Amino acid sequence: MNINDFQSEIDPEKLPQHIAIIMDGNGRWAKSQGQNRLYGHHNGVQAVRDTVEAAAEIGIKYLTLYAFSTENWNRPQAEVEGLMSLLVATIKGELPTLQKNKIRLQTIGDTQSLPEQTRQELQEAINATEHNDRMTLILALSYSSKWEIVQATQRIAEQVKLGLLAPADINEATINAALSTQNIPDPELLIRTSGETRISNFLLWQIAYTELYFTPIFWPDFRKVDLWQAIWDYQQRERRFGMTGEQIGS
Ligand code: IPE
Ligand code: IPE
Ligand code: MG
Repeated sequence: MNINDFQSEIDPEKLPQHIAIIMDGNGRWAKSQGQNRLYGHHNGVQAVRDTVEAAAEIGIKYLTLYAFSTENWNRPQAEVEGLMSLLVATIKGELPTLQKNKIRLQTIGDTQSLPEQTRQELQEAINATEHNDRMTLILALSYSSKWEIVQATQRIAEQVKLGLLAPADINEATINAALSTQNIPDPELLIRTSGETRISNFLLWQIAYTELYFTPIFWPDFRKVDLWQAIWDYQQRERRFGMTGEQIGS
């Protein structure tokens, strides 16, 4: 199939509600151009723009982007600082576009650990876009799934301690409600760029039945057509949720 056909081949009735993306490969992309890692991160911004626009245009309701993991704090200080200033500048710069396209911004992760200016800029953008209803863009920042699960466990333990909850009443819904994704449906599709085929501490609970899509493309090269291709690929799959193909009518 001609790559430009992917968009027209997408079935609007079978769209994922929620797509999550591990944006990976900025450093290797930069290296391939003989540049430093921050150059790669700066060039990743265009891929974010393209992806957000394509997702909103096609009718995706939730898009989660893994932008910075808990483990990424262990990178060289200059890279961490560069990423934090890029984040501030990008949020500032993109706010009018978010408003124009009616996109609501949210975050998941340990945002308390972000620098003050980053937190402020984020909070302003979250407040300014809170009534937008076309698509919710969730940035995973200082996020790791194990961190999130520890937080959730502490919250549930507090409720038990206060006598508000009996241990025997803890169920999947209790855990869903204690996670930072409490109001967000689980992603149907998870994309990772750069050729790595691992999850790197992202949404472990939420991806129990998610379809995984890996592409060798480095994040700065990811464009609308690549998102269309991933959605098209997702639509060719049979999601059985433990049942037989016959049971789900194939
Ligand atoms: C993804 O690209 C961006 C972040 C993790 C912040 P990388 O910086 O991980 O790029 P590679 O994987 O080293 O190429
Ligand atoms: C995962 O990428 C985190 C983000 C994309 C923000 P990494 O580059 O940090 O993951 P590993 O270290 O290759 O697993
Ligand atoms: Mg990486």
